[in-house]
Amino acid sequence: MRDRAERLLERELHSFAATHPKSRALSERARSSLLGGVPMHWMLRWAGGFPVFAEKAWDARFRDVDGLEYVDLCLGDTGAMTGHSPESVVQVVAEQAARGITLMLPSEDALWVGEELTRRFGLARWQFALTATDANRFAIRLARLVTGRPKVLVFNWCYHGTVDETFATLRDGRVVERAGNLGPPVPLDETTRVVEWNDVDALERELAEGDVACVLTEPALTNVGIVLPQPGFHAALRELTRRAGTLLVIDETHTLCAGPGGYTAAYGLEPDVVTVGKAIGGGIPSAAYGFTEGVADRIDRAIVTDDSDVGGVGGTLAANVLSLAAMRATLSDVLTEAAFAHMIAMAERFEAGVAAVIEEHDLPWHVTRLGCRAEYLFRREPPRNGSEAAGGIDHLLDRLIHLYALNRGVLLTPFHNMALMSPATTEADVDRHTEVFAAAAAELAA
Ligand SMILES: Cc1ncc(COP(=O)(O)O)c(C=O)c1O
Repeated sequence: MRDRAERLLERELHSFAATHPKSRALSERARSSLLGGVPMHWMLRWAGGFPVFAEKAWDARFRDVDGLEYVDLCLGDTGAMTGHSPESVVQVVAEQAARGITLMLPSEDALWVGEELTRRFGLARWQFALTATDANRFAIRLARLVTGRPKVLVFNWCYHGTVDETFATLRDGRVVERAGNLGPPVPLDETTRVVEWNDVDALERELAEGDVACVLTEPALTNVGIVLPQPGFHAALRELTRRAGTLLVIDETHTLCAGPGGYTAAYGLEPDVVTVGKAIGGGIPSAAYGFTEGVADRIDRAIVTDDSDVGGVGGTLAANVLSLAAMRATLSDVLTEAAFAHMIAMAERFEAGVAAVIEEHDLPWHVTRLGCRAEYLFRREPPRNGSEAAGGIDHLLDRLIHLYALNRGVLLTPFHNMALMSPATTEADVDRHTEVFAAAAAELAA
């Protein structure tokens, strides 16, 4: 299969270059003004060798500068899980932008959003940031503050944004930095403990060291493929963190896909802290982090208000009125209960379509779904932890499937085979992907 995959990739690369002359010309021009010829360095990793330049995005689709139209299953890697530019958010944002964008003063929207997040996630007190990365960074700092402990515990192959402490992995049982970690401030074993997802014994052992301020985790791993918790894992995680006096921080940035209150509400978790970003502002930079009443009281007691502007938590533009208006519009009008019912149904259709193709060709692959997010991995069995999932990554097949889909008008999330459904995603969009995936599988299996 590998020879065939290489030949197909060669063919798809030629086809991509031939059909995207304007994107290619812009990429070439960009080399003189942008580092690497791209505005964000990882855009170099798009499958075609240069990125597609978008001209316009709406609902779950976009058109590029060459006039080609795509079904968007990437949706800005969750930033646009609302669908692109939902009308109600656009209107509210336009109105708010005309009345002020950032003031360092609160707006009434902040109260509405705080109250709504409490209703959805159950946490009592909220703060705001502009990115999920920042929400996680601030949650970690505050966890250190109230526990007086130095370390963070994360699960192997996690991703929580560009948070220094989280770029750690296990090598022969030792904590080391992940490959590609750029300019780390200190060796990772000074800041971080790492255990495999679903490994209760290792979790118990590491927490028993007594130096862990918080466990930071997604409720299911979503950034190395989807790795679901085994039955009883969350109960053990909660019980062990409580016993160790370690705060449990649940990052719902991606797992918001499980429902209006994320995985936390859908599965009755009881975190001390929740962080969430990306989609909650409909694409306008927005994030939130919330605490139980008990943790909020501890933070209140520990912060010296006179020094809080230089305390390492916050940001001049954080909680700006535009961001809060966007969050209010998104939560009230777009990411509603009814919207999730549709999004989840679309993901079920996606999962069933992909599973049928895998079965038809007896491919050693599988598909997993969590709420309105689905993902296929090139290994037969669902992984039990991040290492197994990482072992199932196949860069050649990843690149081929991405490019094959792109050349046929379907955008998948880069770096893995993730598809996300928005309120605007249709059955026809999902079926387009299934057709393309079936054609790729047939060529590979021929
Ligand atoms: C679970 C999770 N948390 C946090 C982040 C960071 O989000 P951002 O890059 O918007 O700060 C990501 C990004 O992919 C994520 O997947």
